[in-house]
Formats: sequence, structure tokens, C-alpha cells
Amino acid sequence: MDALASLRLQLEWGADEALAALPIDRTLPAGRRREVPAPAPAASSPVARRQPAPAAQTPTPPVRRAQEVAAAAESVDALRAALAGFDGCALAATATNLVFADGNPSSGLMLVGEGPGEEEDRTGLPFVGRSGQLLDRMLGSIGLDRQSCLITNLIPWRPPGNRNPTDAEVLVCLPFLLRHIALVRPRRLVLLGALAARAVLGGSAGITRLRGRWHEATIPGLPAKLPALPMLHPAYLLRNAGAKRDAWADLRLLRRTLDADLTQV
Ligand code: URA
Repeated sequence: MDALASLRLQLEWGADEALAALPIDRTLPAGRRREVPAPAPAASSPVARRQPAPAAQTPTPPVRRAQEVAAAAESVDALRAALAGFDGCALAATATNLVFADGNPSSGLMLVGEGPGEEEDRTGLPFVGRSGQLLDRMLGSIGLDRQSCLITNLIPWRPPGNRNPTDAEVLVCLPFLLRHIALVRPRRLVLLGALAARAVLGGSAGITRLRGRWHEATIPGLPAKLPALPMLHPAYLLRNAGAKRDAWADLRLLRRTLDADLTQV
């Protein structure tokens, strides 16, 4: 196996974090090897693109408009209508349907995925394709179903050809997701996959580092931090059967926490 294929495999298996913060100069004799500061990446390099986007601090005009339109929505129905009429994201023009949400807004539990695939685009409902069927089985394994939670996505329109959404698309869609969360006021969030987890929690950590424990999300418009559990995305689990063990641990953590919540009501 060549080096590139081996690296790709490691990435697929979830090894998305380097152990050392800085590269090691391996040209030096073993005893004298030390970490060397790397030159700053060019702004257009993939490494630079993994840093928090500068636009996160200074919103671009489409992001500012998304923030204003989302903030003006006083109900979930108004938010859905505002999103349907929003023309600041090019994905809306190529998608068949807006994929907004499915499930029970009063359940207290909100699940956030990445974005619609082909089946979701066709039906207008989140998580109805292969990953959705796995998600349903995962929920079922801890006694939950679509009436026990509300399911939505960070990106409400399918990117053409199922490509990954760009940073700009994430930034323009995020205000709508945050407003959706603020209007629904769930007691707990589950963030499916790295993209949703990073968008809501900030930072650039990989999902394998984030999963396995509750974090606190700051949602504009909510009076207190919201507990959020990052989990492996079902699409990732379909490709990496070995990761199901971690997913099962997270599901049990979710079940235990929901049970504990019930005793406090
Ligand atoms: N993957 C997602 O993240 N969301 C969906 O709705 C479907 C697949």
C-alpha cells in the first residue's frame, strides 16, 4: 500500500488528529530530534482552511443578511418560511427541496446533522436515506424514535453531487440553525458529525476528540448554555463498522443522561 493510500485509510478510520502539535525534524539524529515550528500556511492551503474562518469574526454581507433574516423570525414556521425565501445561499438554486426538520419540537431533544443527501433532497425530510435508516436503528436501540426528538441539519439544501459544503455555505446557514435551536429551546442537543459539532461548538477539533462527553453550546437568544453531545455521524458508521463501539458508548451516555433528566422533572 502506498503512503497516500495508507494516510487515507487512517483518516477513514478516524485518525484525524496529529499527536504532536508541531512537525518533528527527522533529518536530525534520533537523540536530537525536536519539534520545529512550521511556516504559516498559505491562506488558500487546506491547512489554512481548517483554521476558524476569518469571516466568523467579520460577517460577509450574505452572512449578515442571514443573521438579520433569522433573527427576525419569531416562530419556527416563520423561520422555515424565511429560509425558503432566502436567496443568499446558492445551494437553494440547485436543490430540489428545502430540508428543514422532522420529528417532535416539544421533545426536549434536538439532533443536528450535516446536510441532506439525495433521498432527503427528493423528499424534503432529513435523514431518510441509508444514514437515516441507521440513525433510526441507533435511536431505537435506546428506546427513542422520531417522536422522541427533533431532527434537523446544519445545511438545509443538498450540495450538488453530495459534495461537502464550503466554509462560506456553512457560515451563511449557521444563523438559521442557531435561531431554530433558540426558538425550539430543547433541553439537550446531539451533534452528528464533525461539521455540525464544530459549527455549533466552535473550534477545529476532530469528532473523535469531541465525542464521548457533553459540551456546553452558546446559542444566541438562550439564557443558559445548552448541553450538547457530539457523536459520530451515521454515514461515517456505515463506512467504518469498527467505530460502532464508540457510537454505542455515546448512545448509552445519551440514554443515561435522558433518564437522569427525567428524575429531575
Ligand atoms: N446526512 C445528514 O447529515 N443529514 C441528512 O439529512 C441525511 C444525511
